[in-house]
Amino acid sequence: MNLLEQLKQHAKSIFGDGEFDAFFSPGRVNLIGEHTDYNGGHVFPCALTMGTYGVIRLRDDKRMLFSSMNKKGSQVVESTLDQPIVYDAAKGWANYLIGVVAKLMERGCVIPCGFEVAITGDIPNGAGLSSSASIEVLMGTMLNTEFSLGLTPTEIALISQKSENEFNGMNCGIMDQFAVANGKKDHAMFLDTNTLECAYAPVKLDDAIILITNSNVKHSLVTSAYNDRRRESSEALEDLKKVYPITSLGMLSEEEFDRAADQIADPVNRKRAKHAVYENQRTIKAVAALEKGDLETFGKLMNASHISLRDDYEVSCPEVDALVEAQWKIPGVLGARITGGGFGGCTVAIVRKDAVEQFRREVPAAYKKATGLEAVIYEAGIGDGARALEAL
Ligand code: GLA
Repeated sequence: MNLLEQLKQHAKSIFGDGEFDAFFSPGRVNLIGEHTDYNGGHVFPCALTMGTYGVIRLRDDKRMLFSSMNKKGSQVVESTLDQPIVYDAAKGWANYLIGVVAKLMERGCVIPCGFEVAITGDIPNGAGLSSSASIEVLMGTMLNTEFSLGLTPTEIALISQKSENEFNGMNCGIMDQFAVANGKKDHAMFLDTNTLECAYAPVKLDDAIILITNSNVKHSLVTSAYNDRRRESSEALEDLKKVYPITSLGMLSEEEFDRAADQIADPVNRKRAKHAVYENQRTIKAVAALEKGDLETFGKLMNASHISLRDDYEVSCPEVDALVEAQWKIPGVLGARITGGGFGGCTVAIVRKDAVEQFRREVPAAYKKATGLEAVIYEAGIGDGARALEAL
């Protein structure tokens, strides 16, 4: 039985028989352009075929009931439209859904009645593949459809980001929610996060594929470390504003940055800003290389991205470094790097098809030897953004 069928049965067993509407919202993998989105730079993510399924049924009262098939036990988390909606730690994962309802209402959207929602998915949680953005945008898409709110995918993405920032306390940029909402099969999105202008680029890799590898490392304090990086970058920006008329680090070239770097008082902030500026330029170069079919250059830029994330931005960790190094040793790996927010999670690599078997054999073995941990490899399927599926 496929995931959607299982979810349908789960929803009926929890909420009782009847009709539900079904939706899907993908995860995303970022090919290059990491920690550039809140620095006004470019990113290059694609939506995945892995993601979150959701089913919804409206109620004739104001109760909101949520159930996740991925959580042990089948307890239902409950909230209500009758009272102001506030974050409640006891509601755990459901805060990602409840926050979107709150932000929709804050924007003036009318949510006239309660509902029952059940979700399930196949994205590993907290692994840098945007499991949170996937469920936020899922919720936004479901309510947009059910209540004819008339929002565009980008508006849903912005509301979801606002919810994650203000409701869940994670100061993420727009990349994840944008990619999840606007994904297109077999395409990556070259997104300018300053303007939200997005160009779809076909991901034609000829004799290569994208492999995602989960390190299975999750560090605690990820949110606070992420928020620290965001603060450090913006402090660096304030120093550079004394020299350049800029509003974001993404507006600088490498040369402009190098000329003024010593204006950044704090050496740690200087490294953070260097990453943001150079990574943005790497992303622009990488997209140009992909357009020309120059995968070698694309791969080298991915490797440089990892080194910068490891040394200047310091969002990698020894386990993920070991995982990336194991991939760099294989000649058919064109490029490999940590992907997503960091501090554990997944790597992304472009691998020649004739090296995939060697990759599958050698990378988990080398990783296990170095860390004692199991690596899990997924072949990335690039899919469409969040959408309604058939009625059940
Ligand atoms: C997380 C955030 C994104 C982005 C990445 C790093 O996934 O949600 O906004 O900043 O980290 O590139």
